[in-house]
Amino acid sequence: MFETRKYCSDISSSDIDSEVTLAGWVDRRRDHGGVIFVVLRDVSGLLQVVTDESTSPEQLAVADKLRNEFCIAVKGTVRKRDEANINPNIKNGDIEIVAKSIVILNESEVPPFMLDSREHIHEEIRLKHRYLDLRREEMQKTMIARHKIMQATRRFLTANNFIEIETPTLNKSTPEGARDFLVPSRLHEGHFYALPQSPQLFKQILMVSGFDRYFNIVKCFRDEDLRNDRQPEFTQIDMELSFVNPKMIMNIIEGLLKDIVSAAVERKIETPFPVISYKEAMERFGKDAPDMRFGFELVDVSGILKDSEFKVFANNIKNSGIIKALPIDMGDKISRKMIDDYTEWVKIFRAGGLPNFRYNNGAFEGGIAKFLSDSEKEALKKELNLDGNTVVFFGCDKKKIVNDALGNLRLKIAKELDIIDQSLLSFVWVVDFPLFEYDEEDKRFYAVHHPFTAPVASDLAKLDNLKPEDVEEITSDAYDIVLNGSEIGGGSIRINNIDLQKKIFTLLGISEEEAREKFSFLLEALKYGAPPHGGLALGLDRIVMLLLNRESIRDVIAFPKTQKGQCMMSEAPSPVDKKQLRELSLKIIE
Ligand code: AMO
Repeated sequence: MFETRKYCSDISSSDIDSEVTLAGWVDRRRDHGGVIFVVLRDVSGLLQVVTDESTSPEQLAVADKLRNEFCIAVKGTVRKRDEANINPNIKNGDIEIVAKSIVILNESEVPPFMLDSREHIHEEIRLKHRYLDLRREEMQKTMIARHKIMQATRRFLTANNFIEIETPTLNKSTPEGARDFLVPSRLHEGHFYALPQSPQLFKQILMVSGFDRYFNIVKCFRDEDLRNDRQPEFTQIDMELSFVNPKMIMNIIEGLLKDIVSAAVERKIETPFPVISYKEAMERFGKDAPDMRFGFELVDVSGILKDSEFKVFANNIKNSGIIKALPIDMGDKISRKMIDDYTEWVKIFRAGGLPNFRYNNGAFEGGIAKFLSDSEKEALKKELNLDGNTVVFFGCDKKKIVNDALGNLRLKIAKELDIIDQSLLSFVWVVDFPLFEYDEEDKRFYAVHHPFTAPVASDLAKLDNLKPEDVEEITSDAYDIVLNGSEIGGGSIRINNIDLQKKIFTLLGISEEEAREKFSFLLEALKYGAPPHGGLALGLDRIVMLLLNRESIRDVIAFPKTQKGQCMMSEAPSPVDKKQLRELSLKIIE
């Protein structure tokens, strides 16, 4: 029976009068007394099956037993639907199958939720019964789009001389800034493998090995706080190339993203993508992954307000802080209550407050307006292009806090005012990142990307005697690709010179001993004619999520983890038995 099986979407009005075999699940069943309609669902779509008392009483009896989600096979003849029954809204809504035989392949219990429900189904229930959730049209479409993206990736990269090579999952830690997932070794008591945060070191070594274009669609693991765009286990489209410069890599990624977009959503995008420096992104948007689909840009007004009568401003400047303004020119949509709520909300970002005023057709009203001198008002009006009804919010603190608070407030307000055009795909490259950042609490430098990222050649000399206050002076040869305000990929030109690599480790506070213990294999490999190389990794899950306009990364992964890192279906993580622990020489401390 299965040999001749067709998909629902294979059948069309050109098959009228032919006999077909289909298999799938009962999507719906309608009993019209003497006639039963069954909508059959398979991975390709839906098709209506009819049984009729007058023509096939035995089949009607089987159809009578069917319930939602029963697994069935149907053999029957294709016929045109009665004019009155034609459904122009669905594919194949003009035809139906007159059943000659319906076989129940397996029954189903009553599903815990309606699969075609338009109501919100609680996510935990969907995840617990993911096998049913994945039968839903939306999820099937998502998985198919994800598959097409992976196929387009393989096609494009293969055509561009990339070779797909797998890298190990059980290995040593790769420093990408998150905690490792560790796997205890049975054969080496007290020793652990770390699951890869990325294949970074292995792909660099593949360049030393002479594969000058590598890619890998690879699972990466990071034990970090989860968010709607983060999973502990996620997939990278990982690439590395030798004998390249950033421009060449960016061109290739643009070509790849073009193919990915058209595979997933049948849309064309324009290349080259705009390029913005890290500094400019932070200045204008307060974020290194700016959402440039709308305005509401931040403006530094430290110069205008440094001597303000509003002491919070003046004192902040004396303490080496900055003052930035976020003018929202849709003031008529911003109520007093919203301003109060925002003032409370920015505390999440450690902002002490949210000074503000309203510019109302020439008048400066409310908030801090009374502290502003005429010349300050005039300068603000000019600098911020004040017009109509505009609410101006201020961030006044250390640079990082101001950018965090106003950068996030900008996004929140845009979402609440519903001004973001959801149909836009706004790609942008962010370049010229600083190589390091300085942590005041830990009193040490950290790598902004990872410790293998090269500084631009012109900044090499500045590495000697680097002072914390000069940390932003050293620019890295790194680039991030951002889509609609989310970082979907990042990469850099790498260090291929062992002395420079050692110098960077030293600046990062990694002792020679630690470097040897953690990365000796990389340092050794660099000694053997390591070519100049660089690369990038794209976050596949994030790309699928953004292209399909899904709210959460969990909606684009077949079996994702919850925000608490659990799989609701398999109930991982779970306890293990004592024997397993003994074999691994492990003991649980209560
Ligand atoms: P990076 O750490 O920027 O770079 O990661 C690359 C991309 O992977 C995605 N990503 C994630 N997606 C879902 N959940 C997560 N927890 C998660 N973490 C990262 C993001 C990100 O842009 N080895 C370097 C790449 C390189 O230098 O070539 C790396 O891993 O979309």
